[in-house]
Amino acid sequence: MMNPFPVGNPGRALGLSLVAAVLALSLPAARSADLNGAWRLDQPKEWGVTLHTYMVLHQKGGLTEGGIYPNGSGSIPIHGAHMDGADLVFTMDWGWNFRVRPEGANLHVVINYGADNTQEGTAVPVTEAVMWAPAAIPPPVVRTLPDNGLARTPPMGWNSWNHFAEQVDDATVRAAADAMVSSGMAAAGYTFINIDDTWEAGRDAQGNVVPNRKFPDMKALADYVHAKGLKLGIYSSPGPVTCGGYEGSFGHEEQDAKTYAAWGIDYLKYDWCSAGRIYGKEELRAIYQRMGDALEHCGRPIVYSLCEYGMGDVWTWAPAVSGNLWRTSDDISDNWKSMDNIGFSQGKLAPYAGPGHWNDPDMLEVGNGGMSPAEYRTHFSLWCMLAAPLMAGNDLRLMSDDTREILTNGEVIAIDQDSLGHEATRAYAKDGVEVWTKPLHDGTVAVGVFNRSHQAQAAAFSWAEAGIPVRAIGVRDLWRHEDLPASDGFKASVPAHGCVILKVTLVGVVK
Ligand code: GLA
Repeated sequence: MMNPFPVGNPGRALGLSLVAAVLALSLPAARSADLNGAWRLDQPKEWGVTLHTYMVLHQKGGLTEGGIYPNGSGSIPIHGAHMDGADLVFTMDWGWNFRVRPEGANLHVVINYGADNTQEGTAVPVTEAVMWAPAAIPPPVVRTLPDNGLARTPPMGWNSWNHFAEQVDDATVRAAADAMVSSGMAAAGYTFINIDDTWEAGRDAQGNVVPNRKFPDMKALADYVHAKGLKLGIYSSPGPVTCGGYEGSFGHEEQDAKTYAAWGIDYLKYDWCSAGRIYGKEELRAIYQRMGDALEHCGRPIVYSLCEYGMGDVWTWAPAVSGNLWRTSDDISDNWKSMDNIGFSQGKLAPYAGPGHWNDPDMLEVGNGGMSPAEYRTHFSLWCMLAAPLMAGNDLRLMSDDTREILTNGEVIAIDQDSLGHEATRAYAKDGVEVWTKPLHDGTVAVGVFNRSHQAQAAAFSWAEAGIPVRAIGVRDLWRHEDLPASDGFKASVPAHGCVILKVTLVGVVK
């Protein structure tokens, strides 16, 4: 089954004002059998965790408005509510279709998430307090934390979310570690095996976070991954629940950091999610500082990955909370439009990247099936030009030759991992062709020629037009693995959605 919640959570980015507005629409729990008020639908999982989706409905003068709070997300407004016999039907932004009707004091609910994915159940009335508890814990005073010394080049590894979503377990993670080595990816520089959301169960009597049945022994799993020469990453949220609705670190930051250290965790992705129900954007930095501080004192080096979708100019303050990387966008999807939108809008963030601290345009979709090999080559090349973290998001056990060849192209990976740590910027654009350039530590320049248009383009430009006012004495094509004749510029046809990545050696100023 596909996880019903793998897509981006646009609602979580909404501010407290919208939350307050929606709450103002809700009524107390005691009510007659109508649809008004706040409702909770439980979703029990076979690994012993029950998730909750909340609905807030407000009926007035024949109209129904409201919001859905799927798991750890913020409010997603509903649309098109109308009666169909005794049922109220409506939809919401993620394309989910709802059919609800009173059933005694409860609501009978059918949610259709898309093809072959329907949930039917009973939603019980709840009060706002149940939805929104707990109250905020006052954020710490903002200060500058020390650099943790990690991630001098963009982190490389694998993350479970893009392919497996909630279907990740101990066996999946061990298999990913095995495949990381046997496929040659470890040799190409990939190190981290990162467990994303849905590993959590809850807390024990002492408040220690406990994994659910999918992960019987986290320490043993870390030992297994370490024995392969790899590192293990984990995921949490500063809110009470994660984006998937699982246990978050709210109020347990230090304790959780110590637990991760005791298990042997090497990387934490910390996802804002339900923290947005409690804190405003102006508190982002302080809240991320709280976990940065906890990691600094947990007794183990842990790479700190901030995931708050680029809110509050995170790139300006993330290094000051000991952040090694920070998401700059909402979630990527496995299609050209999503990748193109995110990847080509990163240029203005280049000044913020450097050794130890990286812009993160989200994890890779290479090999997940929604793009052509040419498009995946463009996706991978662009991420390398951007000095982005390279987190493969595919099933490493079942890679096609194309996928393996893309993910392990050492010449392109070297652009990503260049020790100077510069991020490419757009130097030239014409007819859908964009040229991005990135200076490298040895004085050469990486030049990415990308065709964003839907047809092949005859691209032709001089190095000077691409902002390189010097003569090229060596040009190497990093996908064809071939040296090209020295030239004053580039001239070639680039296929639709394709790219050419060059390493250009320069001398003198062009007259
Ligand atoms: C958010 C993040 C994703 C993933 C999911 C897990 O949407 O942006 O990368 O971690 O949560 O629920």
